[in-house]
Amino acid sequence: MDTPRADAPPLLDIRGLTKSFAAQRALDGVDLTLRAGEIHALLGENGAGKSTLIKAATGIIARDAGTIRLDGREIDPKSGAEAVATGIATVYQEVNLLPNLSVAENLYLGRQPTRFGLVRSAEMRRNARALLAGFGLDIDVAAPLADYSVAIQHICAIARSVDLSARVLILDEPTASLDVHEVEILFRVMRELKSRGIGIVFVTHFLDQVYAICDRITVLRNGRLVGERPVAGLPKLELVRMMLGRELAEVETRRPERDAVAADTSMPLARFDAFGRSRYVEPFELVLRRGTVVGLAGLLGSGRTETARLVFGAEAADCGTATVDGTTVRIGSPRDAVRHGFGFCPEERKTEGIVAELTVRENIVLALQARRGWTRPLPRREQDEITARFIRLLDIRPADPDRPIGLLSGATSRRCCLPAGWRPIRAC
Ligand SMILES: Nc1ncnc2c1ncn2[C@@H]1O[C@H](COP(=O)(O)OP(=O)(O)O)[C@@H](O)[C@H]1O
Ligand SMILES: [Mg+2]
Repeated sequence: MDTPRADAPPLLDIRGLTKSFAAQRALDGVDLTLRAGEIHALLGENGAGKSTLIKAATGIIARDAGTIRLDGREIDPKSGAEAVATGIATVYQEVNLLPNLSVAENLYLGRQPTRFGLVRSAEMRRNARALLAGFGLDIDVAAPLADYSVAIQHICAIARSVDLSARVLILDEPTASLDVHEVEILFRVMRELKSRGIGIVFVTHFLDQVYAICDRITVLRNGRLVGERPVAGLPKLELVRMMLGRELAEVETRRPERDAVAADTSMPLARFDAFGRSRYVEPFELVLRRGTVVGLAGLLGSGRTETARLVFGAEAADCGTATVDGTTVRIGSPRDAVRHGFGFCPEERKTEGIVAELTVRENIVLALQARRGWTRPLPRREQDEITARFIRLLDIRPADPDRPIGLLSGATSRRCCLPAGWRPIRAC
């Protein structure tokens, strides 16, 4: 189904929505127009006011000013349940269902088919199967919801909302925790709903997703409306500029410092040329110089994490060259990277950065031990020296080498990831 015309009558029309929290104005006279059969991205940096807009429009929080019209009729929901009753359903990032109940029970919670006061389970399961089949989902509806992936749980939440006669579906960052395949499943469901004439407001930080599925975009910045645009023909750079405002121009004006770094002709510690991996990160150039911090900036989903993983060999590059101290080297695995003096402090500290059950000492010497090989155990005295040095250097508190690392605060245990390539640390 094509993008609905801009002059199509609005399905949901929000005008002048305003909301303050104490002295802070979180929303300042914001408009949003959603048409039937439209997928409308609501974009803006963290704190721009997206969630506040959704909550104020659906009665989860009281608004200070503004009108909301559904099909031209003014509505004033005072709670989420009232919004659902008028035809606006919202699914948040955290699915709001009951994981221990079955899929079918979740879909019909509070409205199970009954006879003589008893739930007609077989009929409920039949209905549930039919409802999900409408979204191309064929799963065991008698199994607990918790048995399924977050994506399937999201689809169950959406199916339930839509079945409660929603005309408007609002999705607040549903894809933040989904993998690529799961996002595809969700998109299939969104396209199906679009073809049924439902209007969808979709909040996401992933610009690729916006271009893949959305018809129009409304951008907020600091609680204000920046503008509404059709997605087709809108350059990504222009969209980023709308989201960030003049900050992009400010970066441009800091040219002198950048030129100073560029003019440094000393041999870089490390450089990556046309380095990349197909369908992961486009080939890039990265130069790391002595005593310099290189910032990797970009919106969520722009490839910052992926770039770091390639540099550290956590994903193998399939093109380009890596040069360390003027010599071309192969960085095809973290082991290679550590050998060349790289350390890595990953985004997912708990699963990728540390072994929670091991002590601070064991975590700190782990990578070094791995580099030496397990047949040459580090003498305990050396372990203690290294650990004491890093506890001091990284200000690890409490300074107890025998404490399981999982018991430290997030920020402190993240610091323990650093010693991985401790002689010397080039990058993290
Ligand atoms: N319940 C609240 N109390 C106080 N301030 C809030 C509350 N909810 C949101 N805010 C503030 O309002 C602004 C917009 O937040 P939010 O709507 O959550 O942004 P977004 O969803 O775009 O990331 C932020 O500055 C946030 O700190
Ligand atoms: Mg939000």
